[in-house]
This record gives sequence, structure tokens and C-alpha cells, in this order.
Amino acid sequence: MPLKSFFFSAFLVLCLSKFTQGVGTTEKEESLSPLELNILQNKFASYYANDTITVKGITIGGWLVTEPYITPSLYRNATSLAKQQNSSSNISIVDEFTLCKTLGYNTSLTLLDNHFKTWITEDDFEQIKTNGFNLVRIPIGYWAWKQNTDKNLYIDNITFNDPYVSDGLQLKYLNNALEWAQKYELNVWLDLHGAPGSQNGFDNSGERILYGDLGWLRLNNTKELTLAIWRDMFQTFLNKGDKSPVVGIQIVNEPLGGKIDVSDITEMYYEAFDLFKKNQNSSDNTTFVIHDGFQGIGHWNLELNPTYQNVSHHYFNLTGANYSSQDILVDHHHYEVFTDAQLAETQFARIENIINYGDSIHKELSFHPAVVGEWSGAITDCATWLNGVGVGARYDGSYYNTTLFTTNDKPVGTCISQNSLADWTQDYRDRVRQFIEAQLAIYSSKTTGWIFWNWKTEDAVEWDYLKLKEANLFPSPFDNYTYFKADGSIEEKFSSSLSAQAFPRTTSSVLSSTTTSRKSKNAAISNKLTTSQLLPIKNMSLTWKASVCALAITIAALCASL
Ligand SMILES: *[C@@H]1O[C@H](CO)[C@@H](O)[C@H](O)[C@H]1NC(C)=O
Ligand SMILES: *[C@@H]1O[C@H](CO)[C@@H](O)[C@H](O)[C@H]1NC(C)=O
Ligand SMILES: *[C@@H]1O[C@H](CO)[C@@H](O)[C@H](O)[C@H]1NC(C)=O
Ligand SMILES: *[C@@H]1O[C@H](CO)[C@@H](O)[C@H](O)[C@H]1NC(C)=O
Ligand SMILES: *[C@@H]1O[C@H](CO)[C@@H](O)[C@H](O)[C@H]1NC(C)=O
Ligand SMILES: *[C@@H]1O[C@H](CO)[C@@H](O)[C@H](O)[C@H]1NC(C)=O
Ligand SMILES: *[C@@H]1O[C@H](CO)[C@@H](O)[C@H](O)[C@H]1NC(C)=O
Ligand SMILES: *[C@@H]1O[C@H](CO)[C@@H](O)[C@H](O)[C@H]1NC(C)=O
Ligand SMILES: *[C@@H]1O[C@H](CO)[C@@H](O)[C@H](O)[C@H]1NC(C)=O
Ligand SMILES: *[C@@H]1O[C@H](CO)[C@@H](O)[C@H](O)[C@H]1NC(C)=O
Ligand SMILES: *[C@@H]1O[C@H](CO)[C@@H](O)[C@H](O)[C@H]1NC(C)=O
Ligand SMILES: *[C@@H]1O[C@H](CO)[C@@H](O)[C@H](O)[C@H]1NC(C)=O
Repeated sequence: MPLKSFFFSAFLVLCLSKFTQGVGTTEKEESLSPLELNILQNKFASYYANDTITVKGITIGGWLVTEPYITPSLYRNATSLAKQQNSSSNISIVDEFTLCKTLGYNTSLTLLDNHFKTWITEDDFEQIKTNGFNLVRIPIGYWAWKQNTDKNLYIDNITFNDPYVSDGLQLKYLNNALEWAQKYELNVWLDLHGAPGSQNGFDNSGERILYGDLGWLRLNNTKELTLAIWRDMFQTFLNKGDKSPVVGIQIVNEPLGGKIDVSDITEMYYEAFDLFKKNQNSSDNTTFVIHDGFQGIGHWNLELNPTYQNVSHHYFNLTGANYSSQDILVDHHHYEVFTDAQLAETQFARIENIINYGDSIHKELSFHPAVVGEWSGAITDCATWLNGVGVGARYDGSYYNTTLFTTNDKPVGTCISQNSLADWTQDYRDRVRQFIEAQLAIYSSKTTGWIFWNWKTEDAVEWDYLKLKEANLFPSPFDNYTYFKADGSIEEKFSSSLSAQAFPRTTSSVLSSTTTSRKSKNAAISNKLTTSQLLPIKNMSLTWKASVCALAITIAALCASL
């Protein structure tokens, strides 16, 4: 967290805790005073003023890489098929790897092919367009490049043993998707979501590794195979002219820095970029996308940046590459539900985190463009199997009964969001809508754009654009805010409810960090994107700076008056 933001939030929280001393959580919450209202109005006004957003994206997760919490019925069916095959064996299907391994090739193929065929169709792309999105992020696993399942033979004749079903199946569906995207004038960002051996151990990488070492860059051939796949992606999708919908290639999703040495990840990023530049001709505008690897905001500023060659020389010498740091886009993912501290946050702290997060990213933009490429409406981790098949939620403590992880923190509450929307309380709905509005507003104004996770799910409502929109919890169109006017001021008719939600008079206000959450789920482009269009750097306007100052002064006055 940058110092300014840190002091700013610390200051605010101090102020608030001063407000809130001695007031119990059950006490009736009061509305905001005019002074407090003014604070929020000042704060949000700056976010609505100049919406020059480029990316308004949606991910179609859980399609070509399956995820148990997105389509639980697929995994339940797999388990019952496995029981039919061998009722006496212990069945534990927790990810696509164990699904394929347990069922064997033919049964997995039938099940998965049916899923690919039915879960996403042309109609989804048409709806994505009419809903106002301009970009689709499509996750795909490395195993899409498997060429002979019997021999575990991959592209470039590399052998890598795994049980995955492929033989070109996923690439066939990807091609359909690209045709639909072209038809509906949607831009596409391809995302290598699972790397050989798993780059993060999350089930959404294909292979869940809760406790052990990760295989990526450690097991034989994982590096060679990754490079071969990158080369094929670049040769296939670059230089396709302005008819091709592919505007960005994300080389690998969420490599888990910490479990994998960050210097190894960095070196791979350079090798990928070298390959990319060697395959890209000078008139091609496809953007090279890197995930932040769970490093703090600003970590990648000097990397892949020709102004700081001494930094890149440490890892790799880009031979003769002619590029601008603006050609490399940094993808940040942000959720507020994967630590006990985040889950215990007040609604105010949650929104304040988003504000600080957007401000931090804004400071990166002169180095690299940056999007919040994953975020959701979730304020708890209660969606069934969100943390994995058989794993509970931190929110109600069941996580710690179903894993080897432990905590001293008390459970936050009782899970309700895994239930159907009809069972949600109005209070919970309000919080989800406010959280979504705050993220839309701030990411639209302070970053190169945003990509919501996810287009649809079977029953994980907080992660499901279609269900959220249907329940009127996601603004449609995206700037049709309920809690704010177009100029950022608060709608009077909602101000008291927002104040109750955003400034609950509790003593539990928690200051949490703005760094990327440790763990993902389990985590432009109007017209044709050109590199320069993708990366418009918005200058932080004087007006904005002035409003922050005004805000700080107001807060100082507020504190002084207490
Ligand atoms: C928004 O942009 C317009 C035109 O570029 C400018 O006049 C105005 O000051 C900006 N407002 C803010 C709040 O940045
Ligand atoms: C699961 O099995 C049921 C019953 O056979 C079937 O209706 C459904 O389509 C299957 N779902 C998936 C995702 O395979
Ligand atoms: C069924 O599973 C059991 C236990 O894993 C195993 O011993 C047996 O050989 C399996 N039977 C078949 C037909 O695969
Ligand atoms: C099946 O799982 C149970 C409980 O985990 C265990 O006691 C048993 O030995 C396992 N059986 C086989 C054949 O692996
Ligand atoms: C899988 O299907 C193929 C083609 O239909 C068939 O030749 C093969 O014997 C099947 N394998 C098994 C293990 O059933
Ligand atoms: C892969 O192996 C096949 C058969 O041995 C050979 O014809 C082909 O040229 C090889 N491809 C590459 C990229 O080495
Ligand atoms: C990995 O490669 C090394 C060197 O080629 C070899 O000695 C070793 O047996 C390989 N390990 C595995 C698990 O294949
Ligand atoms: C470079 O790519 C463009 C499309 O981006 C294509 O039209 C052109 O033919 C390519 N030129 C070369 C030399 O490959
Ligand atoms: C790439 O961007 C440049 C500058 O905007 C544009 O002239 C060119 O046509 C674009 N290339 C393609 C293939 O769209
Ligand atoms: C890159 O080049 C510099 C200067 O020529 C050299 O000092 C450095 O060791 C090289 N780095 C790598 C990783 O090869
Ligand atoms: C976790 O296990 C403890 C001890 O068995 C039990 O008291 C508690 O209710 C469990 N919590 C949940 C949420 O299942
Ligand atoms: C904005 O959303 C409201 C529901 O919250 C809806 O009634 C209204 O039609 C929407 N406005 C537009 C312009 O679509």
C-alpha cells in the first residue's frame, strides 16, 4: 500500500473508531450527518466525472477449464458415474485432473464434450454484447495443446504425463468462440489459466494442490512445454489483421509468487515476451498481458520497461526488442473474501479498500496499463465449493474443519449466500449491490478497465453476472447506479441506507491491506483495440487532487470536532 493511501486510511479509520467507541453492533444504526455525507460525496464525485474506461470485460470461466463451484452438477455427475464404474473404490473427484483420471478417457470425453457444447453457446456471446461488455476473457488450460492422449504427447513432440482429455477438443471450441466474438464485435483476451504441473495449486488451474509443492517450472518438461504452447499461441493469434478479435494474450494466470520463486516467474515472463516480440510483426497491436503474480501494486513498474534495462538484464536480455512499457498490460485480481480479516470487514472498510486499491493502481499507469481483471460481488466465501470440493467457508469456520489449515479467529457469521437469492436478506442484497457499484465506479475511473468474474454459474450468485443482473444487484447499464448520481453525489433517497451500510456504528472497523488477495477463487476496448487505444493514461486531474485535499481537510475538521 502506498504511504499516502496508508496514512489516509489509517487516519480515516482512526476517525471512525473515535466515532464508534462504545457503540454495540446491535444498536440501531444512525444515518450520516451532513458532514459525513459530504465526505462520501466528495470522495465519489471524482470517480464518476471522467469515465474514459477502455476495458469493460467479462470472463467465461468454468467453460474450457472446468471449475467445481461454477458447475457443481458436472462434478456431481462425474462422481456418480465413477461410482457406477466401480462402487468399491474410494472416489475423490476435486478438479478436472482427478475427473479425467477417475473416469478415464472415453467417459470424461463424453461428459466434457457435452459441457463444452452446452455451457457456452453463440447466444452467450450475443448477450454479452447486448449487456454492454466490450471484451471477453477466455481461460484455457495447457492440455488443450495435447496431441495424443495415449502417448501424452504434446505440441512440439513434448511428453508430459497427465490424464487430461484433449486431442484438440478445447481448441475447436475456442475457435467457435472467436468466430462468435468476431460476429458480435467483441474483443477477446486469451488466458492460459492452467500451466503444466499447476502454477498455483488452485483447482481452477486444472489440478488442486492444497499442501504440496507446485509442479510448474519444477517438474521435468513443464518449462519446455509452456514455451512451446506460448510459441503456438503467438504464431496462431498474432498478425491476424484487424478482423481477428484477439486483442490480448495473457501468458499465464495467477502464478503463485511465494510458492514459486518470483525470480523464476519473472524470468519466464521475459522469455515469453522475447518469443512474443520475435513472432509479432510491426503492424500487429496485440497486447502482452501478465498477471501480477500476487506481488504488491507497483511491483512490475520497472520490469518489461525499456527505460530500466538494468532491471531486465538481471533476468533476461531482450535482444533487439523494440517496445514501449505501455505495450505490456498488468492484470490484477482483487477479492475481499479469502482471508479471515477481509471477511470480518465492515462495509465501510470494504469500500475504503476498493478506493485505496484503485488509487494505488492509478499510480502504476504511467509504467504499464493495468486492469482489475478479476473481481466479483462476493462479500463472503460461502458459495458452495468456492474454496474447493469438500472444503468449507472461512466465514462460518467450516473451512478449518475441512482442511489442515488453522486459525485463532472466530467465525464471522452464518453463511447465507450459498442459498438461492430468495433466501438472501435485504441487508445482504444492499451490501452486494453497493460493493459492486463501488468497484465499477472506482475501477472505471482509476484503471485501464475491469473484467468481472464470472459470466454465469449454476448457483454461485455472488460470482454470476447474469443472476446478479436479474436480481438487480448489478447496474445495467453499468453506470446506472442506485446509490450515486451521475456526478458522483449520493442519491438522497438512498443516502441513509448507504450510510447505515457503509458506516455501521460498530467497533470492529478493520484496516486491511490493499495488496492483491493471496488466493483467487477457490479468483478494449470499444471497437477494435489498438495498443494505443488500449492504454490511454488518464492524467490525475487537478480537480481530483483538489477533492482529495478537501476531503482530508474535512476529515481533519471532523476529527478535531469530536
Ligand atoms: C473531466 O474531463 C473534462 C474534459 O477533459 C475536464 O474539463 C474536466 O475537468 C474533467 N473533470 C474531472 C473531475 O477530472
Ligand atoms: C448431469 O446428469 C443429469 C442427469 O443425467 C443431466 O440431466 C445433466 O445434464 C448432467 N449435467 C452435466 C453438467 O453433465
Ligand atoms: C475398484 O476399486 C478397487 C479399490 O480401489 C480396486 O481394488 C478394484 O480393482 C477396482 N475394480 C475395477 C474393476 O477397476
Ligand atoms: C477408503 O477410504 C477410507 C476412509 O478414508 C479408508 O479407511 C479406506 O482404507 C479407503 N479404501 C481404499 C481401498 O483405499
Ligand atoms: C474408447 O473409445 C474408443 C473409440 O470409440 C474405443 O476404441 C476404445 O476401446 C474405448 N476405450 C475404452 C477403455 O473403453
Ligand atoms: C513430431 O514427431 C513426428 C513423428 O515423429 C514428426 O514427424 C514431427 O516432425 C515432429 N514434430 C516436431 C515439431 O518436432
Ligand atoms: C527429469 O530429467 C532428468 C534429467 O533429464 C532425469 O534424470 C530424471 O529422471 C527426470 N525425472 C523424471 C521424473 O522424469
Ligand atoms: C503483419 O500483420 C498484419 C496484420 O496484423 C498483416 O496484415 C501483415 O501481412 C503482416 N506482415 C507480415 C510481414 O507478416
Ligand atoms: C495497429 O494500430 C495502428 C495505430 O493505431 C493502426 O494504424 C494499425 O492499423 C493497427 N493494426 C491493426 C492490424 O489493426
Ligand atoms: C544481460 O546483459 C548484461 C550486459 O551485457 C549482462 O551483464 C547480464 O549478465 C546479462 N543478463 C543475462 C541474464 O544474461
Ligand atoms: C467445526 O468442528 C467443531 C468441532 O467438531 C464443531 O464444534 C463446529 O461446529 C464445526 N464448525 C462448522 C462450521 O462446521
Ligand atoms: C436503471 O436501473 C433501473 C433498475 O434499478 C431500471 O428500472 C432502469 O430502467 C435502468 N435505466 C436504464 C436507462 O436502463
